[in-house]
Amino acid sequence: MKEIRIEGRKPLEGEIKIQGSKNAALPIMAAALLHKGEIILHQCPDIADVHTMAEIMKKLGVKIQYKNHTMVLDCSHVKETRIDFTEGRKMRSSVILLGSLLGRFQDACIPYPGGCVIGKRPIDLHIWALEKLGVSFFEKESVLVAQRKKLQGTEIVFSGSSVGATQNAVLASVLAEGVTRLKNCACEPEVIWLCDFLCSCGAKITGAGSRTICIRGVEKLHGTEYTIPPDRIVAGTYVCASAITRSQIVLSNAPIEEMEALLCLYQKMGGQYEAIGGKLSLCSRWVQYPIMRQCTEVYPGFPTDLQSPLMAVLSTIPGQSCLVENIFEDRFRTADQLKKMGADIHIKGREAWIRGGTLKGARVEAQELRGGAALVIAGLAAEGVTYIENPQYIERGYEDICQDLKMLGAAIEIE
Ligand code: EPZ
Repeated sequence: MKEIRIEGRKPLEGEIKIQGSKNAALPIMAAALLHKGEIILHQCPDIADVHTMAEIMKKLGVKIQYKNHTMVLDCSHVKETRIDFTEGRKMRSSVILLGSLLGRFQDACIPYPGGCVIGKRPIDLHIWALEKLGVSFFEKESVLVAQRKKLQGTEIVFSGSSVGATQNAVLASVLAEGVTRLKNCACEPEVIWLCDFLCSCGAKITGAGSRTICIRGVEKLHGTEYTIPPDRIVAGTYVCASAITRSQIVLSNAPIEEMEALLCLYQKMGGQYEAIGGKLSLCSRWVQYPIMRQCTEVYPGFPTDLQSPLMAVLSTIPGQSCLVENIFEDRFRTADQLKKMGADIHIKGREAWIRGGTLKGARVEAQELRGGAALVIAGLAAEGVTYIENPQYIERGYEDICQDLKMLGAAIEIE
């Protein structure tokens, strides 16, 4: 089995380019189904989840070519509306295909998306919103079957903020009859980018990024050529890599305007940054201040996806820090792996209490995407050698974290 080997405490310097966003690319790929023709996506990240989504869509009849980060999807001849069970179970975010399949066809079948390491990941809000639009659901042998006659626009007030449920409701409303008004929507950039992509195909959507999104149904969409935005979580991960190694690096193509909460925290830790000409220059020489209490929140608050990488950084800053995970119910698993490296972390319910010190190289295992990335970050600062098992979890969302960090001077290999 492959594993990542890191010899810690090498100073990082230099510049890396941030890849396209996984969490923007996946719903946009699903949205391509709403157009009976060709869609071209540039800067589409070369990551496992994108390739899994492509495999699922190919089995529906979509023709997909992918070369040099450009993906061409031809959805002219899609006949199948049942998601392949094995592929679908591999990636719970395939649930986003519900909205676009139901936007175009009268039925859809997806494997009931299970939970994962970070939480139960229910889809009640997705189902509830689609039912409001006229979809009926039933479950058969852990497959979710959805049917609808006509999708009728309506008002939908979400009881909780969900990125995926907001996206599914938008996807199902774009070709529906009449106007759909979504309230208490998620405001994450990935909702904005999906709506922006759909508008570039002729959809009529206003309010993306606010709590209320209005979709006026149209007859059909037209093709488009679209560039996937850079990944704010990958960029944030590399800010953490700079902070934990107290180094100076430059991120080109980082979506700085979507990283405010993290950059504010980075300054509180003692980091300094400059945004010049689309480049984010980081100076972490004086990173030394613990963080009294930081909660993960919906956007524009501090993102849950950076909670584990930040935990790794705080494990090296002397003093007491506290992280509060408010989005997912089981996202502190990485603490156990960091403790193998000498981290001093106590979990009390939704709070992780961290007392920073020195990390030592150890053999640890990635159990999910962002926790795995946090272990790479920790390995950069640890004394000695760290081995990280199950790197396939990290490859789901990072194009080549080893190559990126190696370019900055890290002694890191995947073996
Ligand atoms: C998206 O997941 C992202 N995934 C996640 O990134 C990210 O952590 C999350 O949004 C929050 O920002 C993709 O975009 C593919 P939610 P999503 O629905 O849409 C609860 C990564 O590492 N909830 O906003 O699944 C849910 O359990 C991944 O890239 C319900 O209760 O997140 C959670 O507690 C991890 N019922 C909260 O809402 C529902 O029907 C937020 O979930 C849906 C969600």
